[in-house]
Amino acid sequence: MEEALRIKALPPYLFARIDEKVSAARAKGVDVISLGIGDPDMPTPDYIIERLTQAARNPANHRYPSYVGMLQFRQAVADWYKQRSKVELDPKKEVVTLIGSKEGIAHIAFCYINPGDIALIPDPGYPVYGIGTMLAGGVPYKMPLKAENGFLPDLDSVPEDVARKAKLMFLNYPNNPTSAIADEEFYLKAIAFAKKYDIILCHDAAYSEIAFEGYKPPSFLSLPGAKEVGIEFHSMSKTYNMTGWRVGWAAGNSRVVEALGRIKSNIDSGVFQAVQEAAMAGLASPPAFVEEICKTYQKRRDIVIDGLNALGWNLPKTKATIYVWPQVPRGYTSASFAEAVLDKAGVVVTPGNGYGEYGEGYFRISLTVGTERLQEALKRMQQSLGKFEF
Ligand code: MLT
Repeated sequence: MEEALRIKALPPYLFARIDEKVSAARAKGVDVISLGIGDPDMPTPDYIIERLTQAARNPANHRYPSYVGMLQFRQAVADWYKQRSKVELDPKKEVVTLIGSKEGIAHIAFCYINPGDIALIPDPGYPVYGIGTMLAGGVPYKMPLKAENGFLPDLDSVPEDVARKAKLMFLNYPNNPTSAIADEEFYLKAIAFAKKYDIILCHDAAYSEIAFEGYKPPSFLSLPGAKEVGIEFHSMSKTYNMTGWRVGWAAGNSRVVEALGRIKSNIDSGVFQAVQEAAMAGLASPPAFVEEICKTYQKRRDIVIDGLNALGWNLPKTKATIYVWPQVPRGYTSASFAEAVLDKAGVVVTPGNGYGEYGEGYFRISLTVGTERLQEALKRMQQSLGKFEF
């Protein structure tokens, strides 16, 4: 049976390909240190698990969940925004529960993209922005994220005819994979741009809570005009060590939230309510929990950045996210460096070009293993790859 055109053009997901390489190396007996996917190694807190087990025993939760999510969960999201960023949200109209933010990011294109329509996507960027657009028949227009611009897109360089054809624009700060941050001035500019061209701004805020040394990433939704033009995707995954639980949300513009909920109600049947109850326990976590998580990543960041700088890199300290985004040494491409590091050091890093053509020349390290393994990874890189030149 021949595959449909849309899937013929679809590559395997970046991390599915990397998983295959890791499994092959492990099958050969290599003690692989995986700094690839951003999948927190720390466990989900006990109080969240407790809440799940209690909620799983409630027969009311064994039936179909509400399509757009339990009102109590959406209320908990609204409360979280109010407390965190003084953002007022109507839980009934301005929040929709997602099976992880990835799901909503992929489906939003189906709400607004007609064949041939454009979505503006950051490059390098989370692959799902472009894939969702293509599956909906749209055309991703890449906005390069360059070091000289602080890895922010230059909105003034988007051609007028492209901006006019664009229906969606994806932004993501703190940024995966570059770990760059955005200030309020940038968001205001993006909001004005979206308003001018009638574009829905989709802000992916999956990493907004992982920040260091007192830095608090501004909330896109707290800025004037944000709710008129866009929504924010958020996730329990990275902040609460819940990647496996698949629960997140989109919040903001009520018409966009309704459209996303409508498409979802026709495709999926919502998030298991016991998981939503557990996520409510997560959102009510004491601030000390997230502070501790940030301290752990900060310590790991220091080991990696100080370690790479001792090997010849010249990296500034990142302010947020669980990633480090160094350039590859001279003589390597992103792919050849990632391959050499795996083959010679047994260390998995993500090649920068996996996030788009403007990621070429970089690789990404995920800080999702403990300090000893990070030190071991750096030691192995030095011992097996020799001196790095830039
Ligand atoms: C990443 O490592 O970029 C993401 O965690 C991968 C994902 O969410 O699929």
